[in-house]
Amino acid sequence: MKWIIFKPIAVILLLALVPNQKVFGQLDEIQTKVEALLKEMTLAEKVGQMNQYSGFWDATGPSPREGQAKDKYGHLKSGMVGSVLNVRGVENVRKMQELVVEESRLGIPLIFALDVIHGHKTLFPIPLGEAASWDLEAIEKSARIGAIEASAEGLNWTFAPMIDISRDARWGRVMEGAGEDTYLGTRIGLARIKGFQGDDLSLNNTIAATAKHFAGYGFAEAGREYNTVDIGTSTLYNVILPPFKAAVDANVKSVMNSFNVLNGVPATANKFLQRDILKGEWDFKGFVISDWGSGLEMIDHGFASDLEHVAEMAANAGSDMDMESYAFISHLQKNVEDGKVDIKVIDDAVARILRVKFELGLFEDPYRYCDAKREKDLLYHADHMEAALDMAKKSIVLLKNEGQVLPLNKAQKKIAVIGTLADDKNSPLGNWRLGSDDNTAISVMEGLKKYTDQITFAEGAELVVGHVDFVNEAKINTTDKSGFAEAVALAKESEVVLMVLGEHGFQSGEGRSRTNLDLPGVQQELLEAVYEVNKNIVLILMNGRPLTIPWADKHVPAILETWQLGTQSGNAIASVLFGDYNPSGKLPMTFPRSIGQVPIYYNTYSTGRPGPKDIVFWSHYSDEVNTPLYPFGYGLSYTKFEYSDLQINDSDPTKVEVSVVVKNTGDRAGEEVAQLYIQDKVGSVVRPVKELKGFDKFLLKAGESKTVKFTLTDNELGFYNNQGEFVVEPGDFNIMVGPNSMELMIKSWVKK
Ligand code: GLC
Repeated sequence: MKWIIFKPIAVILLLALVPNQKVFGQLDEIQTKVEALLKEMTLAEKVGQMNQYSGFWDATGPSPREGQAKDKYGHLKSGMVGSVLNVRGVENVRKMQELVVEESRLGIPLIFALDVIHGHKTLFPIPLGEAASWDLEAIEKSARIGAIEASAEGLNWTFAPMIDISRDARWGRVMEGAGEDTYLGTRIGLARIKGFQGDDLSLNNTIAATAKHFAGYGFAEAGREYNTVDIGTSTLYNVILPPFKAAVDANVKSVMNSFNVLNGVPATANKFLQRDILKGEWDFKGFVISDWGSGLEMIDHGFASDLEHVAEMAANAGSDMDMESYAFISHLQKNVEDGKVDIKVIDDAVARILRVKFELGLFEDPYRYCDAKREKDLLYHADHMEAALDMAKKSIVLLKNEGQVLPLNKAQKKIAVIGTLADDKNSPLGNWRLGSDDNTAISVMEGLKKYTDQITFAEGAELVVGHVDFVNEAKINTTDKSGFAEAVALAKESEVVLMVLGEHGFQSGEGRSRTNLDLPGVQQELLEAVYEVNKNIVLILMNGRPLTIPWADKHVPAILETWQLGTQSGNAIASVLFGDYNPSGKLPMTFPRSIGQVPIYYNTYSTGRPGPKDIVFWSHYSDEVNTPLYPFGYGLSYTKFEYSDLQINDSDPTKVEVSVVVKNTGDRAGEEVAQLYIQDKVGSVVRPVKELKGFDKFLLKAGESKTVKFTLTDNELGFYNNQGEFVVEPGDFNIMVGPNSMELMIKSWVKK
């Protein structure tokens, strides 16, 4: 390694080595270093820090300008790049870091980013699946392991957690979030941020997290990807923003803006969102990264006339770093020279970026994440596999179990396993798995073989035709039923049929909106053909979003929702099927009966005609009921739980204590998620008929009872009015507790 020639940066590095004491009075030590470094930087070098390029072999989006890749090396050496994404592996990271630290004038280290969304090498369930566990500890651990493995590959920043609330399963990215509820989504987002960032960002196994996408992306009109978002103030303040506010309060290091316009203004240039709310009201100290090319897309939105205009508006609106638009690197210096962007805007953005780099310890040691031994020892580590299996089991939701078909007897004979997904080692990895390797999932077949040799497989039908990958549409098989005969014949001679149906791993995720939520392709026909000859079916769903499966719900005796469970998928599913793990998951998102009900969610407003009425004039459909197929918070167990004795104690004026007794009335131990909901019956802005405001997951032995306690404070009882003010209003409330959002014990309570 070339000796670093003496350069102004050496002053800063010396500062970095200063013992952890206040060097200049009360001034924050890092702030002092940042200010000293800013003074050394030219305008071009400052703009360079605001520029992020993607790596050369792992694009995660359409590169706006093919052929630019060769320029990147030039920019790296001249300090014109502040960060890169999609570059991983200790050797690659070190090579690129050396280029910048040793060759550029100031040697300011790069920060290396990747989408570490649900694990890195060892993959965990897709985030929507993890959310179904309602197990915040396990979710934090999942993110922790993602950070350990990502940092072992030289990475120090992840573009996660995605905390977009969404009520529309047509939108493919529901797989990436925590579902439809703000309270649950906020707590899961916080668990993930804690897992990624830990308590000390300067350690080489913690990484900066990103709260994304700011804001409203999950409310794309008609669930169509990248579509317009036009929503009211109450939904913005009470549903969409709270998870981001909590992330900022939890010291998340970066926020990523979103592709969509919000009420007519692209998020990337939305001053209201980024300056007024995020950096103003919330005093966010980190930095804002654009989404991939979201700056450039302002031209297509009809909000910018050219890339120079993009750079000016994005910077002035509070975007600090430009991912792959080439706007800042091409035009920001001229914007400043022309007086269109004040140097203070640049200095603030650069200071935010530098601050995170100092906090990550990158100035102290730019190669602290480049430890080849950690990379060799930690990727796919056995402990990580164990944690992934635990998380996967906890993410499975038992939707139906008529006649106790499940759990299977381990002595069960003649088990048919039908469906191409049962033998698929790729789909269970889910869509966002950039850092991992293809075909590394334990398939359902592999998991089952660890329990029994009584299984026989039949594909039934291909799900997709030809090659599928991250950036291309999956071509769904809608015609080829040539495998039906073999599958039906197998089912006919079998005692029980396990049907693994659902979506290919690349059928949900970014760019994957669907206009219907049925089982894709010919799977429904396959299910009905098998049912004709053998009704003893266990349907195992493998999917990235809620599906409409009313026929299955009506006919099939047992249904498991297994999402895409990651590397340990088959082992987790087999463990639940044979009863070694009693399923405990609860739906984080409503399952509709039909696509016509979408968006459908539990925390609706009452409307003025909630009905039902004898005449037609009430809020309903003439061809479908209003209720979902399976409600938010729903999930069964192999045992039974009984709720009784709901009590409310408001003797302390600062809080309301709610308790309920839960008893395991079945014959085996099981975990339950007791849920607390409230309704503010009269508000200055109408309030939902119910809102989740507490939950508790616990294990009960057969016959055991537990008094579950919740506490409500003004934080839970209040809401944002249309002026964005958080208010708590006296009046009548309903307090509700139960196993899901529909089966609830209710008590009235008055807030004085
Ligand atoms: C993608 C996604 C964003 C991701 C980014 C970098 O388009 O919208 O969530 O972090 O690009 O891969």
